[in-house]
Amino acid sequence: MIYTGRIIVGVNIPDDFKKGTVMKTIIGQLSDIVSKGFADAGYDSSYGKVGFSNRPDLCEFQCNGAMALAKEYHKAPIAIAQEVCDKLSDDPAFSEISAVNPGFLNIKVSDDFLARYLNEMEQSDKYGLECTAPRKIIVDYGGPNVAKPLHVGHLRAAIIGESVKRICRYFGNEVIGDVHLGDWGLQMGLIITELRYRKPYLEYFNDEYTGSYSAQPPFTLSELEEIYPCASAKSKEDEAYKEEALEATRQLQEGKRGYRALWRHIMEVSVPDLKRNYRDLNVDFDWWKGESSVDDLIGDMVDDMKDGGYAYESEGALVVDVAKETDTKEIPPCMILKSDGAALYTTTDLATLLDRKRTFDPDQVIYVVDKRQEMHFIQVFRCAKKCGIVNSDTQLDFLGFGTMNGKDGKPFKTREGGVMRLETLIADIRETMLHKIMENHETDEEEARKTAEVVALAAIKYGDLSNQATKDYVFDTDKFTSFEGNTGPYILYTIVRIKSILNKYNEAAGGKTSDDEGLPRALRSPSNEYEKALMLDLAKFSQVLHSAYEEIAPHRICAYIYEICNDFNRFYHETRILAEEDEDRKNGWIALLLLTRKILEICIDLLGFTAPEKM
Ligand code: ARG
Repeated sequence: MIYTGRIIVGVNIPDDFKKGTVMKTIIGQLSDIVSKGFADAGYDSSYGKVGFSNRPDLCEFQCNGAMALAKEYHKAPIAIAQEVCDKLSDDPAFSEISAVNPGFLNIKVSDDFLARYLNEMEQSDKYGLECTAPRKIIVDYGGPNVAKPLHVGHLRAAIIGESVKRICRYFGNEVIGDVHLGDWGLQMGLIITELRYRKPYLEYFNDEYTGSYSAQPPFTLSELEEIYPCASAKSKEDEAYKEEALEATRQLQEGKRGYRALWRHIMEVSVPDLKRNYRDLNVDFDWWKGESSVDDLIGDMVDDMKDGGYAYESEGALVVDVAKETDTKEIPPCMILKSDGAALYTTTDLATLLDRKRTFDPDQVIYVVDKRQEMHFIQVFRCAKKCGIVNSDTQLDFLGFGTMNGKDGKPFKTREGGVMRLETLIADIRETMLHKIMENHETDEEEARKTAEVVALAAIKYGDLSNQATKDYVFDTDKFTSFEGNTGPYILYTIVRIKSILNKYNEAAGGKTSDDEGLPRALRSPSNEYEKALMLDLAKFSQVLHSAYEEIAPHRICAYIYEICNDFNRFYHETRILAEEDEDRKNGWIALLLLTRKILEICIDLLGFTAPEKM
């Protein structure tokens, strides 16, 4: 089902993508033509599906239908392919079509077809993206634990989740990004316990106290950031201390006044800092809910699970069986309550799904979380389905990401071997980019700093996103910040180059700079192989976005724009664009540049970064 003219919720895709017409993808259009060839040759037209070529050295597109048909017709596949080829050889869409052994149809499209296709794309809604019926999607990403500064371990969830959210939105879905704070677990009890040791006189610890509590938190952000690791270290060495922290957690969850007040202070101090950090990453959540938000749903939810006969007691704890006969590895029962009655990580995740169903009723929930949590999510998903906490057709997806390692192949650390704060990492990369930019050309430091911020973000995000999410990767500062190779700065450099040519053209034509108004839009047939290669890749836009969306795979977009940038730079080095005397030809190139820039800008926006004006 194809949708047109939809209003997109809160998406900041650059300008005019809503132009009204809907088109078929290049694969769809070529398949229609080849299908007709099959029919004309007396065969079932459904075999005429065309795909991108596996052998770009031989052809641009291919159809393998004759191979599949051969059995049915007891004929050699090459004979069928030849018959179809004969029917199609005069079609103006092709510059070359041939039947090759053992039975492929190899296709090259004609220059006119390609130019016409791109012009149609330029005029279409979202550059020819075919959208499916809109759905409601929640992307659960971020997942920081409050009271701890964001560190590099949080980087991947933020970067990948943000991109996944944007991709889902671009397809016209209604999408909510939820940060799902870790704000209800043991870390809260640890902080409360440590604070009680340090400041036992505070009214929060006085059970007799019935007055109101101070509006001022009894700690600063930096104190809080020091208290948590200290408490955490103590609890690992000292059993009694850990027991106290567990007890404090339980009392907090049960509603003890003083602890609830402290909890609010922790949130007040910590959440604005988290927001600031995410803003620096150009990551933005619609919901700032957390584990605590669903505390009051847990009681009834657990009762329902018992009443429904799903949850039962086992060694004092409450569990739900989630194993299936077809399992190849053991899936232990999902624990709902511990023997002391305390809720667990699974419990809050289940209650969160219940809350989401009641408030938003999503068709799909995508979790972007460290892949080491896979078992947790298998259990939560199965339990939620079994107990009817989500609808039977709600799609639950876990995108588990790998670890970000240092050059030594071990999880990324500071030089001293400590956990690196996200702020520090961002500051380091900004500094590196600043040096490179100042080295490249003399420019005002203030301006260079602004540019460096934009480019640094691209370096970090592209470095991460260009790897398949599930794989571990090495965070290599030298590589990620390079202007050459498969990097964020290279992509931005290419966009800036295009912008600069367009500005020069605009100036020469007496127009305003950085304003596309009045620029030529009609592309012409390619004049050389480099131009054709660029045009062919631009034509793949819709397919690439589909694979990124369906596979939840932003790295597909990275691979795509890297190709486009390579194509563009090859074309640029072969072509004297602005010096061209044939005005028609020059205008066609300007239109091509405009389209290339737009496609690149849409793609980087989907990855969650932007391009500067100059660099
Ligand atoms: N706070 C969790 C952690 O630090 C991650 C939360 C992920 N999301 C979720 N719905 N469980 O491990």
